[in-house]
Amino acid sequence: MSKLKVAVVGVGHLGQHHARIAAASPHAELVAVVDPGEARGRDIAAKHGTAWVATLAEVLPKVDAVQVAAPTGLHHAIGMEALAAGKHVLMEKPLAATLAEGEALLAALAAHPGRVGAVGHLERFNPAVKALRDRAFKPRFLEAVRVSPFPMRSLEVDVVMDVMIHDLDLLRALVGKPVVDVEAVGVPVLTPHADLVSARLKFEGGAFATVTASRVAQKKERTLRAFGDRAYAKLDFAAQKLELLRLVMNGGGPEIVNEQADIEEGEPLKLEIEAFHRACLGEEGEVVTWEEGLEAMRVADQVQRAVAKSLAELGRA
Ligand SMILES: NC(=O)c1ccc[n+]([C@@H]2O[C@H](COP(=O)([O-])OP(=O)(O)OC[C@H]3O[C@@H](n4cnc5c(N)ncnc54)[C@H](O)[C@@H]3O)[C@@H](O)[C@H]2O)c1
Repeated sequence: MSKLKVAVVGVGHLGQHHARIAAASPHAELVAVVDPGEARGRDIAAKHGTAWVATLAEVLPKVDAVQVAAPTGLHHAIGMEALAAGKHVLMEKPLAATLAEGEALLAALAAHPGRVGAVGHLERFNPAVKALRDRAFKPRFLEAVRVSPFPMRSLEVDVVMDVMIHDLDLLRALVGKPVVDVEAVGVPVLTPHADLVSARLKFEGGAFATVTASRVAQKKERTLRAFGDRAYAKLDFAAQKLELLRLVMNGGGPEIVNEQADIEEGEPLKLEIEAFHRACLGEEGEVVTWEEGLEAMRVADQVQRAVAKSLAELGRA
């Protein structure tokens, strides 16, 4: 089968990895990288034996699909331009800067049947997450922690849309039910936006989760603890480790069995991008859809509104 022709739009911090992975993908040919920054664009293009162009319009007629890793504020405009030309789109997370823009993208995708709209919630492709999802484990209470030192970028958005959104998407996928209630508190520490947020989510059916996201921590931690019926799972995203404790009944009475899942490590971004390439070619390739990306944004929006309310109360105290 012929290869998918792709362009990577935005080759900054994350886009450079999109370009590396697309250039090496067995399913794709990287036709060009697009970035208004000429020096950066030429440098990344040269590293991966491809062309640099300054604008998307220059390369759209030559590609089947685009991988968008430009700043979030540009996702809507770039997505609309690509869809209008009939291209498949992998959009970095969050899908868009606002709910209205996300909804407009979804409507435009619906007007282009057969086009793949995927969103870059890469933790879904983390092999440890896959190992957890492969096990018959129904979580009732989950605790997600995603904290890191101050990044000095993505500061135009708060920690909810930038960081917590990974867990908001993942928790919904793991529970398999929509979020019905949200409480949250947060504080701006180094930026005018909330840099540290703690949220409690209640899901349809009664499961609930606490989620903590911070970009002002001293060291990185990205973990998930999930409690289900006679079972406990601890997942470390960075180390790609999954530990499961189960209560089993045997002849001698109840026993706690400890399982360290056997995980074949893999780069989540590579697994995500190659799945997108396969999906565009009509082969088996599971992507996180734009509907799911918008759903994560809706929960993020509820978290943001709850944080704003708690801050307003603090201001009045
Ligand atoms: N999935 C993840 O874990 C993850 C991690 C980091 C960033 N992201 C997302 O990736 C996106 C980019 O983040 P970043 O940290 O790489 O930002 P960045 O600022 O490092 O890079 C953005 C790049 O886009 C370029 N750009 C600006 N305008 C453009 C245009 N009109 N067309 C093409 N390129 C343009 C910039 O010159 C820059 O090189 C954001 O949406 C962010 O939320 C996702």
